Amino acid sequence: MKNFKNVTILDHPLINHKIAILRSVDTHTKDFRELVEEITTLVTYEAFKDAPTRDVEVRTPLAVCKQKMIAENAIAVVPVLRAGLGMVQGVHTLFPTAKVGHIGMYRDEETLEPHEYYCKLPEGIENMRTIVLDPMLATGGSAAAAIDLLKKRGCKDIRQMSIIAAPEGIERLATAHPDVKIFVAVCDEKLNENGYIVPGLGDAGDRLFGTK
Ligand code: PRP
Ligand code: URA
Repeated sequence: MKNFKNVTILDHPLINHKIAILRSVDTHTKDFRELVEEITTLVTYEAFKDAPTRDVEVRTPLAVCKQKMIAENAIAVVPVLRAGLGMVQGVHTLFPTAKVGHIGMYRDEETLEPHEYYCKLPEGIENMRTIVLDPMLATGGSAAAAIDLLKKRGCKDIRQMSIIAAPEGIERLATAHPDVKIFVAVCDEKLNENGYIVPGLGDAGDRLFGTK
């Protein structure tokens, strides 16, 4: 795969350990959900490295000092339904006041094209850093469409956070939206003929919500 300067693949031993368990066919809904949350928290730590901050003064028992805290009303996460929902708590664990918008998107099983069916975004999102959450970046079609939609709503500072990506998805998204920083925990080998990531983990939505 080409090197894209807006793409970070974390490939971290602590995350890879959890992803190994996540991938297994023997991992069932409860553990799967908890792992998606925990991995998201670890990816959040990296993706928030340059989060917008504000200066505050804090009085310690010894002195008053200047400190930095995350700016208020500055960050929104936007899970892509359904599977992105599984990542929201993982961000809130580290940053509980992140606003949450929702975009409903499903992939046509034949064409693999994304279809939007729901959109509810926080007021003022156009002035916030907006982070799209979706554990799977496969063809990249859903992520690219979600980001198109956010740009139409005026968002200017957009990021993508995923757990498992296919090289095809990274390439498509990084090319379509070179201004968007993409954070993925790992990049797998390829997509199969049905648009599934290999080795991947199967259908993230079904595994999170026990629908199959
Ligand atoms: C999955 C996944 C992504 C999308 C990724 O959702 O959660 O949204 O596929 O594929 P892409 O990169 O090729 O667009 P799906 O469409 O299966 O909907 P679901 O979450 O409701 O199951
Ligand atoms: N969506 C998933 O849930 N899994 C894949 O491998 C590809 C798209």
